[in-house]
Amino acid sequence: MNVREVRHEDVTWLASLGLLGFRPHYQTGNGAIYLEDSLKILQTMPASSVDLVMTSPPFALTRQKEYGNEPIDRYIAWLMPFCDQIFRVLKDDGSFVLDIGGSWEPGAPVRSMYHFEVAVKLARKFKLAQEFYWFNPARLPSPAEWVTVRRVRVKDAVNMVWWFGKTENPKADNRRVLQPYSEAMKSLLQKGYRAKKRPSGHDISTKFAQDNGGAIPPNVFTTAHPTDDLPSNFLPLANTESNSHYLRVCREMGTKPHPARYPENLVRFFLAFLTDPGDLVVDPFGGSNVTGAVCEAMNRRWVAAEINREYVEGSRARFVASAADLGAAPAGPTQPALFDGGAATPKKLRRR
Ligand SMILES: C[S@@+](CC[C@H](N)C(=O)[O-])C[C@H]1O[C@@H](n2cnc3c(N)ncnc32)[C@H](O)[C@@H]1O
Repeated sequence: MNVREVRHEDVTWLASLGLLGFRPHYQTGNGAIYLEDSLKILQTMPASSVDLVMTSPPFALTRQKEYGNEPIDRYIAWLMPFCDQIFRVLKDDGSFVLDIGGSWEPGAPVRSMYHFEVAVKLARKFKLAQEFYWFNPARLPSPAEWVTVRRVRVKDAVNMVWWFGKTENPKADNRRVLQPYSEAMKSLLQKGYRAKKRPSGHDISTKFAQDNGGAIPPNVFTTAHPTDDLPSNFLPLANTESNSHYLRVCREMGTKPHPARYPENLVRFFLAFLTDPGDLVVDPFGGSNVTGAVCEAMNRRWVAAEINREYVEGSRARFVASAADLGAAPAGPTQPALFDGGAATPKKLRRR
């Protein structure tokens, strides 16, 4: 691991955030992760200093994850102090993107409303800019009692991703997240389009046939393989996690991978859509630090906090070269790039 001392100039922007009283577990050119209760970190940061908070907190699950989950009846009371601080630290045009999975009432095949209650409560403070749906077909069928044993419910495979603004007009530009046009649209662009009224009553003007460089994405993401048979308006987030750089280096370092990671592409989408290079992004429930790693690759400044030592330590894997990269491992499959476009910057880790 290429670890070196942090120089004074490396920490000046952290000083401007009031964070010099905390010791980063490690830091890079663009960011720092703290082994700390994120409530303390958020409380220390100045008001109106952050462009985006992108995070996935522990969910209120009936089957506990190893890192602990607040039960449904205490969940909102537990989460709200973090959200109050998030509101305070966001700039007026800042965004809060919250990935939150659904849950079941204990002992019954009845869905919990907790993730909607969270949204309703937050919408009294923040402005709900839009809701997104992340469809993960690889999700295991659970709760087993209702899905695989009694067979009275189907697999729950969608997370809500709530996008809130501090105000009505968070910074956003969908031209930065355009998708490739479908074959049908490409042919229409070539052949031209006759303006007419659709059966739905929508008036489609000739502007419809204008090439804008790509299609505006829908508010649905999927981690299904792009070639799977999916409704055409799903935004594919290719799930290459099973052979990712992170998992490979975790194996090499002998650390256990974080058990509940979100896909890099989810972060990549919101960074491109809602932030500019140099903006500050905060993840208060850092886990394996996907947020920090993608920020690093996309040249955003980042601050993450994670309360579990094993996870923070394991998250280094996202920033260091794998032994295979360095030629120390036996020949195997080609190491996939950590980030699309080859923007990965392993070995940039610094430690105090
Ligand atoms: C769902 S996981 C986040 C996973 C992360 N998005 C990723 O992709 O790796 C939630 C994380 O929040 C951490 N956590 C819980 N309470 C915390 C707190 N008060 N401060 C910092 N981290 C906390 C847990 O240890 C857990 O790793």
